[in-house]
Amino acid sequence: MFSRRKSMIFMLVAFLFMLSGFATLSAQESAKSPEKKTVQAEKSSSASASSSEDRPYDVIDEEFRHIGPGFGGMNAIPFWVALVVFLLAMGGLIKGKNKLIKGISGLVALVAFGVIAYITYWEARSLGRQQGYAPVQPIWFSHKVHATQNNIDCEYCHSDARSSRHAGIPSLNVCLNCHSMVKEGKISGKKEISKIYQHLDQKKPIEWIKVHNLPDHVYFNHAQHVQAGKVACQECHGPVERMNRVVEYTELSMKFCLDCHREREIITDNQYYALYKFHLNPGEKPKVKDIGGQDCSSCHY
Ligand code: HEC
Ligand code: HEC
Ligand code: HEC
Ligand code: HEC
Ligand code: HEC
Repeated sequence: MFSRRKSMIFMLVAFLFMLSGFATLSAQESAKSPEKKTVQAEKSSSASASSSEDRPYDVIDEEFRHIGPGFGGMNAIPFWVALVVFLLAMGGLIKGKNKLIKGISGLVALVAFGVIAYITYWEARSLGRQQGYAPVQPIWFSHKVHATQNNIDCEYCHSDARSSRHAGIPSLNVCLNCHSMVKEGKISGKKEISKIYQHLDQKKPIEWIKVHNLPDHVYFNHAQHVQAGKVACQECHGPVERMNRVVEYTELSMKFCLDCHREREIITDNQYYALYKFHLNPGEKPKVKDIGGQDCSSCHY
């Protein structure tokens, strides 16, 4: 078994490791539980424009409330249980009366340590991703009202998706196409729509909060997917047309991109592939990975 000195050193190292794990956890809790965060924000700023009393209709739709990474925000409990077990077992290991107790304690400590390491690994891995993120927007803009109830096409508002890298958020002038006439909503009355006019009067653009964010080192192009690849918006963004408040539906991790690129066949009926098609054997169906969809440099600068 370990000598007393060795177990002290082991315990110190383990403790530092756990501290770093806990730091990761708490950093994440504050950055990544958007629902919790917004609820708190709403509570603490009941005087502000976006408080839940001011916008009782502004909630994350039931259907999308439970979207989130890995352990679904429950990591803290197993983490603390494992930590307590670990500390108790370390006590047994150091103070244990005989070899058997020390041996068992050592084993339990090792397992608890494994659990802690595993949770920390998961937390660290998903750090920076924000599946389930659903910020409160300055105007209660509902995709359900617009895309489903009023049947407005995604590309009416996100008109750059087909032609450029960014899908783009419509300017207030696009809203005015309809809201110069439609001045009242069934759910929010005049309250939210009137913000469009206020902002226009003050010549102040609306500061929509970006929901989907890839890290800077990743290159992503909408046109390539929407136009050339004929990939539906929903494959990456989920059923936005059912959302009253936009939620980041998918993980947008590297695995998410690659899983599709490994399996998806490219559509070769366009100009771009005219020459490429010429080189294919009859019946050959190339996938995205065959045109470089797995090369690091396609997605990373
Ligand atoms: C009437 C205009 C309009 C229509 C139609 C519309 N959107 Fe939007 N969309 C917006 C506005 C405004 C925002 C920014 C506010 C927000 O995030 O709710 C937005 C935000 C988004 C976002 C989040 C962008 C981000 O910040 O990461 C996605 C994804 C999106 N829309 C997809 C769609 C899809 C898919 C459709 C079709 C089913 C669609 N939109 C139809 C106006 C529209
Ligand atoms: C293959 C996956 C994929 C498809 C298909 C896709 N998007 Fe996106 N979308 C993304 C990613 C990834 C981001 C984040 C981009 C970033 O942070 O650079 C994003 C961002 C957005 C944004 C925020 C503004 C922007 O352009 O960065 C809007 C709005 C949006 N998408 C709308 C749409 C609409 C509408 C469609 C369908 C016409 C669509 N997207 C199709 C993956 C996709
Ligand atoms: C193509 C037409 C069209 C465009 C463009 C459009 N809207 Fe609307 N909007 C409507 C219609 C129709 C309604 C439904 C009114 C009702 O509730 O009966 C509506 C309702 C609303 C409501 C109130 C929802 C409710 O039920 O209380 C808000 C807020 C709103 N729109 C904001 C916007 C904003 C912001 C933009 C620009 C980003 C925009 N709209 C662009 C047609 C449009
Ligand atoms: C649902 C399927 C799907 C998902 C998810 C997806 N892609 Fe793609 N991607 C495609 C298709 C299809 C093409 C081929 C388009 C064409 O024909 O040019 C493509 C092509 C690309 C290319 C060009 C490859 C090359 O070398 O020509 C890049 C870069 C790319 N995707 C980046 C991404 C990134 C980054 C993500 C994740 C955020 C992603 N894609 C997610 C389907 C997908
Ligand atoms: C189809 C697009 C795509 C390809 C190809 C791709 N990556 Fe990534 N990569 C991404 C995306 C998207 C992220 C951001 C993931 C996140 O935010 O969690 C990422 C993140 C990363 C990270 C940061 C750590 C992480 O996991 O978040 C590293 C390192 C990385 N990629 C290396 C590589 C290497 C090496 C290759 C080539 C073998 C490669 N990537 C190929 C899309 C891609």
